[in-house]
Amino acid sequence: MRVSQQIFPRAVALIVTISKDGEPNVMTASFLMPISFEPKYLAFSITPTRHTFKNLKEVKEFTFNICDESMLEEAKICGSYSGRDTDKFKLAKLEKESSSQVKPPLLKKSPVSFECRVEGMKEFGDHWLVVGRVLKEHVREEEFIPLLHKSGDIFPRLK
Ligand SMILES: Cc1cc2nc3c(=O)[nH]c(=O)nc-3n(C[C@H](O)[C@H](O)[C@H](O)COP(=O)(O)O)c2cc1C
Repeated sequence: MRVSQQIFPRAVALIVTISKDGEPNVMTASFLMPISFEPKYLAFSITPTRHTFKNLKEVKEFTFNICDESMLEEAKICGSYSGRDTDKFKLAKLEKESSSQVKPPLLKKSPVSFECRVEGMKEFGDHWLVVGRVLKEHVREEEFIPLLHKSGDIFPRLK
């Protein structure tokens, strides 16, 4: 049994990165964790075959955009197509907003977004752990119902 079927539900975020040529990309992630209150640090775990991983190697910055329940379709789209050959912002109709501290843009629809600088990336098994220091946060909504993930197409709902 996969660990994703044993540790759940997990919050879902859309991770936005940018290539050295300035092309942004967005990927869904649910292997997420907060690390530190002050300064704020957070982490996610990524398979190295992702286009997002290539971008992170080129530009060591990302934005971490929390999904609320209304963002299920966007999360499915950004988690099933690759930015290698698809403009997922267009496909998922996700509006971008400029960041002030990092190059990758933010997502307007997200209730909470973090601008992050990569502080470390390390391989563990079939994933890499990416640790980011939050340089700026954007709280658009304080109260929201988070989108939750188990595995595959299973998104448990809060009762
Ligand atoms: C709900 C959901 C959660 C996901 N969580 C992760 C994750 O935490 N880490 C990861 O590497 N891929 C995760 N994926 C898969 C990637 O989002 C997917 O492979 C995506 O197409 C990669 O995009 P990219 O090639 O543009 O970077 C998840 C997919 C979904 C639908």
